[in-house]
Amino acid sequence: MNGKWAVSDTMKTRIPIETYTDGAALARAAAERFVEQAGSAIAGKGRFSVVLAGGSTPKALYRRLAADPFAGAIDWTRVHVFWGDERTVPPDHMDSNFRMAHDSLLSRLPIPVRNIHRISGEADPQEAAQDYDQTLRSFFADAHACFDLVLLGMGDDGHTASLFPGSEAVEKEVKGLQGRWVVANYVEKLATWRITMTTLPINGAAHVIFLVSGEEKAGTLQQVLNGPYQPRAFPSQLIRPHNGRITWMLDADAAHLIE
Ligand code: 6PG
Repeated sequence: MNGKWAVSDTMKTRIPIETYTDGAALARAAAERFVEQAGSAIAGKGRFSVVLAGGSTPKALYRRLAADPFAGAIDWTRVHVFWGDERTVPPDHMDSNFRMAHDSLLSRLPIPVRNIHRISGEADPQEAAQDYDQTLRSFFADAHACFDLVLLGMGDDGHTASLFPGSEAVEKEVKGLQGRWVVANYVEKLATWRITMTTLPINGAAHVIFLVSGEEKAGTLQQVLNGPYQPRAFPSQLIRPHNGRITWMLDADAAHLIE
């Protein structure tokens, strides 16, 4: 692992980045970090709340976590699982983020069903967003959301979760008008609705980890981490934990343009 700091241009903040030789090394390191975070949260307060990322990058991580030695290193009965976003499809649909996590991780571990907090992708998007917003607020007893760990990916257009460039949800974030923890967000380029956490619960987390791999992400990653703050174009720049930590865990292909 090559630990560096990326210095973002106008944000003038130092952002911790860790670069790994390839996707397998990245997944292994992320699994180790996940186990560390889970262990300390469970030891400290008896539970570990984690927000899973969708897409394809996290699959390798989830598969590792579901196998030894990682599977045996966590008291999964104490783990609460959430999703940062979901597609508007049923849970058994091939595009479902729930299905991806279920097949690669959850179905292989003794996590109580009541601890798996799924977004209802099959429901009306507005209703599903409202329900999930309430689910989060109830979990945190209507106090501030403070997930122990939020896992995020980044698209090659700079989106994260389902906060896409040019979408209403991002516009509201940029204008400081976002009061919801979860919203339905129409994504023009995909011609579909998504359900997504907003930055409010994400930036309230104790630790946010971006997992980014692949050469196709390198140019965007350079803009996000080294370029000027322009969150309308690169919504991943909206992710700046208020009191928690952020770590960008990258493979060499994705990281090679980072100064
Ligand atoms: C989704 C994710 C999304 C994802 C990025 C990266 O629902 O697709 O939440 O934000 O993390 O699009 O996806 P890949 O890991 O497949 O590149």
